[in-house]
Amino acid sequence: MLNATGGRLVPLDLPPAHRPPPTWHHAPVLRHEPAGDRYRFLRLHAPTIATRAQPGQFVMLTAARADETAPVLPRPMAIYDTAPEHGTFDVVYGVVGGGTRRLATFAEGETMLATGPLGQGFHLSAPSRVLLLGRGIGTCSLTMVAAVNARLGGTTIAVLSARHPGAMIGGDVLRRGGVEHLHQVTDTDGTSAPGFLSTLLNSTLDADPPQLILTCGAQRLTDLAAELGKRWDAEVQVSVEAHMACGLGYCHGCSSGQRSVGAEAPLVCLDGPVFRWAPADG
Ligand SMILES: Cc1cc2nc3c(=O)[nH]c(=O)nc-3n(C[C@H](O)[C@H](O)[C@H](O)COP(=O)(O)OP(=O)(O)OC[C@H]3O[C@@H](n4cnc5c(N)ncnc54)[C@H](O)[C@@H]3O)c2cc1C
Ligand code: FES
Repeated sequence: MLNATGGRLVPLDLPPAHRPPPTWHHAPVLRHEPAGDRYRFLRLHAPTIATRAQPGQFVMLTAARADETAPVLPRPMAIYDTAPEHGTFDVVYGVVGGGTRRLATFAEGETMLATGPLGQGFHLSAPSRVLLLGRGIGTCSLTMVAAVNARLGGTTIAVLSARHPGAMIGGDVLRRGGVEHLHQVTDTDGTSAPGFLSTLLNSTLDADPPQLILTCGAQRLTDLAAELGKRWDAEVQVSVEAHMACGLGYCHGCSSGQRSVGAEAPLVCLDGPVFRWAPADG
């Protein structure tokens, strides 16, 4: 799973102090409604998570209510946005199976058990020009980058890709975060094809290329990020997904499967979900 074209994904290996400690909350549901025609938007009140969350981190949401025994395992969801001044964080999710079907039944005013913020998020260092490549629901892990990068004095360019306009998410948060250019591309009009994007980005960014490219793990965008990273000598970081039972590094169910000598394979929930792309010759 940790292979990208001509290279591999390796842990960022930042010191543990870099990452805020997680907490759990019985978080009141403040908003829960459709997002476009494909996803759902959920706003929870959980001040510690809202204050501590970093771009690319995630929460584990328990879809069973206090008096229910199933589903036992919580579901991982990227933190889409936060409003620390209101003590809230947002998630956007797709209903794909039993857990997310159950999440979708929570009404405003109910409480949901939320644990976070979890995982190693994107690593942004002082002022960088950053390119975001997001596709579909994976975009949720990228949305908070623009605001944090702006606070560091950097600039952000974003490409949001979706099957069709109703499945496009993330533009609102990125605009509020001060994104410099936002390209929204879809399968329906053919603009999301990797060849088209490669030409577009080369022609618009070659003169002033990004130093950092962040993407969400969709294979076509990971390949594009790797290609552009080589072209511009830019660092590439990728957020990947895995089935997770605990999200805390206990169960080892999210092992990346990467072969290693004398050490265990990296865990997606603890060493990731964000990894650095290392070129084969790097
Ligand atoms: C770090 C992280 C962040 C995530 N952020 C979001 C998010 O912001 N929004 C969102 O909609 N989803 C997100 N996901 C995926 C989400 O956790 C799964 O869709 C969810 O757990 C499915 O639960 P379920 O019980 O509804 O479906 P299941 O019944 O468990 O599965 C339904 C289908 O989805 C597939 N699936 C389930 N979990 C995953 C997974 N982790 N990766 C790939 N395929 C999976 C299954 O193989 C199956 O085909 C994230 C996952 C991770 C690991
Ligand atoms: S999900 Fe349990 S160790 Fe990663």
